[in-house]
Amino acid sequence: MLKVVFIGWRGMVGSVLMERMREQGDFAGFEPLFASTSQVGQPGPDIGMDMPPLADAFNVDALSGTDIIVTCQGSDYTKKVYPELRKKGWKGFWIDASSALRMADDSIIVLDPVNREVIDSALDRGIKNFTGGNCTVSLMLMAAGGLFKAGLVEWMTSMTYQAASGAGAKNMRELVAQMNAIGQLAQSLVSDPSSAILDIDRRVMEAMKSPDFPVDNFGFPLAGSLLPWIDSPMDNGQTREEWKGYAESNKILQTQQPIPIDGICVRIGAMRSHSQAITIKLSRDVSEDEIKDIIASSNKWVEVVANTKEDSLARLTPAAVSGSLSVPVGRIRKMNLGPRYLSLFTAGDQLLWGAAEPIRRMFKIALEYLQ
Ligand code: HSE
Repeated sequence: MLKVVFIGWRGMVGSVLMERMREQGDFAGFEPLFASTSQVGQPGPDIGMDMPPLADAFNVDALSGTDIIVTCQGSDYTKKVYPELRKKGWKGFWIDASSALRMADDSIIVLDPVNREVIDSALDRGIKNFTGGNCTVSLMLMAAGGLFKAGLVEWMTSMTYQAASGAGAKNMRELVAQMNAIGQLAQSLVSDPSSAILDIDRRVMEAMKSPDFPVDNFGFPLAGSLLPWIDSPMDNGQTREEWKGYAESNKILQTQQPIPIDGICVRIGAMRSHSQAITIKLSRDVSEDEIKDIIASSNKWVEVVANTKEDSLARLTPAAVSGSLSVPVGRIRKMNLGPRYLSLFTAGDQLLWGAAEPIRRMFKIALEYLQ
């Protein structure tokens, strides 16, 4: 029976992965083992069967006896353990939620509803490394991948509205703590209907500027504000997050000629769903109806939302989409700029399609391939 090790299953992405796998009855047809970098020997997660205690995730000898390793442990772990394993001659599948191997030549970025043929061809060529993409990129391609495949994208900009979860679990807590600090200071005025709005605003600013305001993780207030910078600087003025939009999208799609993609990535006070405002220069003038058909039929999770106030506000928001695999795409319209300029807006759960789900699905594909 195939042996599969899961590493990093307790963290945020790993927990979502475990939840999805349990929901989908995925723990069948192979011998699972759970490993840990810090809690070796302790009991693993409850997956409805007897399991050995947690193995040592740094024990390369033990890992090299397995067929598939699924890791959500993060880049540092991958950078340390992966080369040692390959050096030992390990020939198994490495399925990784981190970015460590994403741009490597012998690694495929997986998003099977968009690039299943790329994955299948890689399997045929003996490729063994499969990584999840950047969350913003994966969500953008779940939404607009159909337009790329139809050859309709001459270039694209994506202006992002990224949730706290993309920065990590501590940042999600900090966002709520910031909301709480603001709420507490403004509470008495907010509950007094005769209070002046500018006094409330002053209280909010006072909370945000207080030395006690919790900013250990974001460095600055996010609640009541936004942060127009995500990740490290690149030499060309982009952030790394913005650079990934171009580099990873083209890699996922394996474009012959790279398609220009750029934008500004912004952190906002949403918890776990990223949104993006997208502008596309179409390679030819196609009707809005045809565009909607192409988007709607590109995968079974994408949903075209009517460009009405009611539908946009009810269905096209982080609040509407969090915890769901749906990827709504709305505000679809030709822009005043001309008939080949299209705008659209999309939102999606950063922890599902943005992180855990492509990994879960690649695991199933690898398992099927090996059986
Ligand atoms: N880098 C992303 C973010 C999440 O900061 O939102 C990971 O893909």
